[in-house]
Amino acid sequence: MIVETKLLTMENITDAGEIIRRGGLVAFPTETVYGLGASAYDDDAARKIYAAKGRPSDNPLIVHVASKEEISAAARDISQDAKRLIDAFMPGPLTLILHKKSVISDGVTAGLDTVAVRCPSHGTARALIRAAGVPIAAPSANISGKPSPTTARDVMEDMNGRIDAVIDGGCCEVGVESTIVDTTRGGCVLLRPGGITFEMLRTVAPDIRKDKNILLPLAADEKPVSPGMKYRHYAPDAEVTVIEGGREAVQRKIKELISRNQNGKCGVLLMYDAVYDDAVMINGGSTNAEYARNLFAALREFDRLGVQTVFAEFDENDGCGLAVRNRLYKAAAYKVIRV
Ligand code: TXA
Ligand code: MG
Repeated sequence: MIVETKLLTMENITDAGEIIRRGGLVAFPTETVYGLGASAYDDDAARKIYAAKGRPSDNPLIVHVASKEEISAAARDISQDAKRLIDAFMPGPLTLILHKKSVISDGVTAGLDTVAVRCPSHGTARALIRAAGVPIAAPSANISGKPSPTTARDVMEDMNGRIDAVIDGGCCEVGVESTIVDTTRGGCVLLRPGGITFEMLRTVAPDIRKDKNILLPLAADEKPVSPGMKYRHYAPDAEVTVIEGGREAVQRKIKELISRNQNGKCGVLLMYDAVYDDAVMINGGSTNAEYARNLFAALREFDRLGVQTVFAEFDENDGCGLAVRNRLYKAAAYKVIRV
């Protein structure tokens, strides 16, 4: 049992690397969200990650490396498509599913023969991997099922007393988790949309397909391609409903819903610049890139403010829209009203 979680900065990066090398847990910033890191070579350390998050043990972790060249330490038989994606988008907010090398702990991959690999572009993340001297296995640093953390404060809220340290690197630039592409089943399949958009991926891998569960819940008896797809994700305590469409229709609908609401304090996540009476308003941003950056922090803030019912304004109007829509739909447990 860890009594106190240390709050570190880039100045303590050597100490943080040492904690990881000794089998401890350190949360760290990346350009997407904060990760909860441990040595990817250490089975016991991987087990500690699952315990700290309350994460089901069949949901594998992403292995983080400091440079593209180090990907071959974790993966083998990398396809031509995968090589092109690596050259085009790494370092950055992209994770590839590749064939696993046996040095990567089975605890990290939940026994699969594939491994998720990511090379973040964030300077602190890369400095930490270098200081640790080993690839770092890391899921998002939230309690399982909660929105991913995008600040050190959010990490502390979930993880204080459960992990050894958090490195404070301010807010995350992208704000939603990395784009995940499976390259191990012939061709490329987008499993999770993120800051590297489908359109960007298609410029390099023209035959890439989207997994059908990106915007749909899994059927009760369905086995997901990615284990993480079957768990409820990104959900705040508040009940979220997405109101999707053009500005005026969305605003009219939300005003009506607020006036009829009987489920506690109301909040609205804004994409348009409306004013709602009788609701806590948080600005998501007017582009999907801004909305992505603010989304998880806003969902957490609604909970802190005791909001029980959240209406989220949304319109998929640019490239990051698919990533935002995927996270919003999950936060809303697919409760979406199109107007
Ligand atoms: O941006 C991110 O990706 C962040 C930062 C910290 O890197 N990490 C993150 O990790 O979002 P996590 O664990 O919250 O999500 C990883 C997802 C899970 O849905 C998991 O099921 C999937 O990746 N995954 C991991 N290994 C896989 C594999 N071998 N095959 C299919 N899916 C895999
Ligand atoms: Mg996660």
